[in-house]
Amino acid sequence: MNKSIRPFAFLSFALLAVTAVYASDMTKSYEMPDASQIVKDDLIPGATKYTMPKDCKLDDLESIARGEYMFHNLNSKNDKKENLPKGMKAPKEGEVKAYGNCVACHNIEGAVGGGTVGPPLVGYKANFMDTKVRDAQFVYQKIADPRVDANTTAMTINLTSQMFDESEICDITAYVIQAKKEKIRKK
Ligand code: HEC
Repeated sequence: MNKSIRPFAFLSFALLAVTAVYASDMTKSYEMPDASQIVKDDLIPGATKYTMPKDCKLDDLESIARGEYMFHNLNSKNDKKENLPKGMKAPKEGEVKAYGNCVACHNIEGAVGGGTVGPPLVGYKANFMDTKVRDAQFVYQKIADPRVDANTTAMTINLTSQMFDESEICDITAYVIQAKKEKIRKK
C-alpha cells in the first residue's frame, strides 16, 4: 500500500468498526418506551357475569329495530349513515361504528349470507327458549360475555370488551328473542 494513504485507510477502518458497534445496539438509535402497560390496558378482562338491567325494554319495537340493525350489519367504514333506526347514533365521519357482526356467524330470519360458525338462531324463541336455561337473561349474558358458560367459545365478547354498552345489548337481546321478526323486517 502507498505509504501516504495508509493513515486514511486505518482511519476509515476505525470509523467502520465504531459504526458497526453502535448500529448493532439498536436501543441507542431510538427511544424504547415500556409498552407493557399499553398491552395490559388492551387486554379484555376475564369472563364476567352480568344481570340483565331491569330497564331493558324487550317488547319495545324501536329497541328491537335497533337490535335488528346491529345484528345484520357488519363493522365497516361504508355503513350508510341514513335510515338508521330511531335512537341509534350515526357514526361520525370516518368513524367505524361497532355493529354486532352477528350475521357473520349466525343464521337468523331474513339473514343475507348468514354464517355457520355459531348455531342458527332462526325461530330462537320457539326453538330454544322452551327450556329453563335459555331465557332473556341467558341471551343477554351470551351477547354480553359468551365465555361464562362456554370457556373456549369462538363468539365475540361485546360488553366486557366495551364494544357495546348495556342498552345496546338490551336492544340485540330484544331482537334475538322476538318471535315475529318478519313483521319487523318488512316495516
Ligand atoms: C365469530 C363468530 C360469532 C359471532 C360474531 C357471534 N357469535 Fe353468537 N355464537 C357463536 C358460537 C360459536 C356460539 C356457540 C358457543 C357459545 O354458546 O358460546 C354462539 C352462541 C350464541 C348464542 C347462544 C345460542 C344458544 O342458545 O345456545 C346466541 C344467542 C348468540 N350466539 C347470539 C349472537 C349475537 C346476538 C351476536 C352479535 C352481537 C353473535 N352471537 C355474534 C359465534 C359467534
